[in-house]
Amino acid sequence: NNVALGPYRHYMQKEIFEQPRAIADTLEGVAGIVPSIFGPEAEGVFRRIRRILILACGTSYYAGLTAKYWIEAIAGIPCEVEIASEYRYRISIPHEDSLVVCVSQSGETSDTLSALAHAQSLGMKHTLAICNVATSALVHNCELHYITRAGVEIGVASTKAFTTQLAALYLLTLVLAKLHGRLSLAEEEQRMKALRHIPSALQAVLALEPQIMATADIFATKQDALFLGRGMHYPIALEGALKLKEISYIHAEAYPAGELKHGPLALVDSSMPVVVVAPNDSLLEKLKGNMAEVSARGGELYVFADGDSAIVGGEKVHVLRLPEHYGDLSPILHVVALQLLAYHTALIRGTDVDKPRNLAKSVTVE
Ligand code: G6P
Repeated sequence: NNVALGPYRHYMQKEIFEQPRAIADTLEGVAGIVPSIFGPEAEGVFRRIRRILILACGTSYYAGLTAKYWIEAIAGIPCEVEIASEYRYRISIPHEDSLVVCVSQSGETSDTLSALAHAQSLGMKHTLAICNVATSALVHNCELHYITRAGVEIGVASTKAFTTQLAALYLLTLVLAKLHGRLSLAEEEQRMKALRHIPSALQAVLALEPQIMATADIFATKQDALFLGRGMHYPIALEGALKLKEISYIHAEAYPAGELKHGPLALVDSSMPVVVVAPNDSLLEKLKGNMAEVSARGGELYVFADGDSAIVGGEKVHVLRLPEHYGDLSPILHVVALQLLAYHTALIRGTDVDKPRNLAKSVTVE
């Protein structure tokens, strides 16, 4: 490839640091919350649909899982998220009033293309591609599209494509909320302002790199890790664990923190690091209870808190504090801290960060 690395050691690091620019570019040209940002036909389609079905693989699937929380809570529209490789092999109940949203960086993932074709064959004709490649098969095969402007992503482990997908899915949520009478003008302004603030908020997260490197020093010696989150940060815990697995080859699993007591707590001992995504949201108090369960078993906590989380560090409680509290947009910021953790851990372990063993950037065969 002919993309210059500049001052970075790897494309993945470069792409992590490009995220403020990638999101700003993705939002550029979005004059307001209007359906036409998804194409001229979008308004008619969005008025007709009553539910959402998101289809995707890998990291793009986790963007879809995060969006489900936004779409149901903000737009009030039922939303299902399916792993593309499973969807077409099960008997499901098609709904003609669904908007099928396919999320993909490349737009060439075989499983996602086949899942789209399956949905279409079941009579679901309203389809939207959220994709980073305008000329891809996915964009070609969908009725509507939104092109993220992450720019070329070279690192096999997806970073900037994910956060730009989230920005696009948040825009979709706001457009649907507005059309379905769920967004006051004041709320629209406040939410757009928060979204436009993301690039500068991200800079502040990237500035935590030195602290995250210190955490990676400890992490690099581990064999396993557990990631916990709640609500819309559960998919972020999943994505954090996936990043760590993909590039550092450390076995990692993510759980919604409330499930800890139903199994994974048995794994917790003094050598098992537990990463907690802990923004100051409505579930924080419950999450603190889950953290106490880990501490009581001698487990070591790595807490990614935010400016308002009020979590006190200690000998076995390492707190990394993101500067602000970002409300519904907090997943976009928290994931960047977890990307950096995976990157620096892999760096210490000496793996081939941009080309992890056995993985491909785009899986165009089943
Ligand atoms: C591959 C890549 C992942 C990616 C997934 C889906 O497995 O290694 O990083 O998330 O495909 O790719 P897509 O292009 O559809 O987003």
